[in-house]
Parts: sequence; structure tokens; C-alpha cells
Amino acid sequence: MKLVICKDYDEASLKASEIVINQIKNKPNSVIGLATGSTPVGLYKKLIEGFKNGEISFKQVTTFNLDEYLGISHNHPESYHAFMRDNLFKDVDIQEKNIHIPSSDLKNAEKNALNYTKALQKVQVDIQLLGIGTNGHIGFNEPGSSFDNETFAIALTEQTRHDNLRFFNTIEEVPTHAVTMGIKTIYRSKKIILMATGLTKADAIYGMLKGPITPDLPASALRNHPDLVVIIDELAASKL
Ligand code: GLP
Repeated sequence: MKLVICKDYDEASLKASEIVINQIKNKPNSVIGLATGSTPVGLYKKLIEGFKNGEISFKQVTTFNLDEYLGISHNHPESYHAFMRDNLFKDVDIQEKNIHIPSSDLKNAEKNALNYTKALQKVQVDIQLLGIGTNGHIGFNEPGSSFDNETFAIALTEQTRHDNLRFFNTIEEVPTHAVTMGIKTIYRSKKIILMATGLTKADAIYGMLKGPITPDLPASALRNHPDLVVIIDELAASKL
């Protein structure tokens, strides 16, 4: 594991973007696993800059998103489909056919999750980007999720719904369920970059790096991954 402690959010975004930009330069048809949430927004801005100044192209890049809410439309401004369009895809030359995001269709969630797993089993993800929840979740693998899961549907914990309330008007609007790549799927990625910034993530980072490896803190599953890069700021590192 490589631990990179940065001064602040901007430096963390820069460090993560350098790795992704180099990956795409060295292998233009890279497969990148993408994350949502507020954490990767700065990194996506830097990738857009890299595209605009001609350093990289997304023409041959394939992407697989980690997760999506269930039961909201793909056009809902807080759906991860909308997030990806607004924060990355609309500003780069990625081809629609190369974009994969789990469906938010609640009724067919199981069937769609299985198809997503099958699509992921056909590729090798070169880099998987991850944030972390305050309870140590990754994607939407909430505490207690088995390390053997591939893509699956899950009920969100109240803590995660409250953490994500800032993106919605009322708690009732925050979806109760989601679909996520499982830990087993995430672990298969060649390289994993996990980013976290701010004091609210300090306990989760401590648990991930220093606590027991346990489904109670899903991110701890990644600790023995052969190519894990953890990029955090001083606040998120403050309990280490
Ligand atoms: C959500 C997402 C996760 C993300 C987490 C942290 O629950 N499903 O993928 O890592 O939130 O979000 P943020 O980066 O906004 O703190």
C-alpha cells in the first residue's frame, strides 16, 4: 500500500489526477472505474483540463461506475448518471458506448446487477477510483457487506442517507436503496486509488488502515490489495 498525505483537497486531487493521466497516456484504451460523491470532483476537473490542453483523450477509454441509487430517474440531478454527465462526460471526448453506469431501475435491480457483473468480468479494470463513507463504506458496500459480493442491490444505512442528505432537500427524498459493485469486484481491479479529505473521514481512514480487516468496516478489505494508493489530506490523516 502507498499512503500519500497531502496538504489539502487541491493537492490530493492533483496527485490522483497525475496517476490517472499517466495511465491514460500510457494506455489510451484504459478501463477506469469511476466514483461519485464530492471527493472526486476536483480530480475530474483536472482530467477535463488534461483533455482540454491535449494531454489526454478519452476516445478509447472505457469507464465503469461504482454505484447508483435505486428508484430515482437517470435524469434526477442527484442520480450518479447526472453526476457523471455534469462533472466529467459532457466536457471530454468519451464515447457513449464506452460508458457503463449501473441502472437505477429498482424493479429489475437483481437482473441488472447480474448483467453488470458479467460485463465487468469481461474486462480488466486498470484503475478503480474510490471515496469512502464516514462509516467506512466504499461504493455502497455498507458495514456488514460480504467481501465476496459482486455487483448487488443494498438498503442504505441511516448514517449514509443522512450523510447524503446535503445533496437533497429532505431526508424522504434520499433514496433508501442503491446498487453497487461489491468488494470482490473492486478488489479485482489492477490498481485502486482511494481518496479522502476532511476531518469527517478521519475515523474511517483510521479504521481502514489501522483497525481489524472486517466487513464492519468495508474499506479495510482493500488493505492487502497489491496496488492500493490511499491519497488523503492532513485532516483525514489526523487520527493515524
Ligand atoms: C456515497 C458514494 C460513495 C462515496 C461516499 C462519500 O455514499 N456512494 O461512492 O465515496 O458517498 O462521499 P463524499 O465524497 O461526498 O464524501
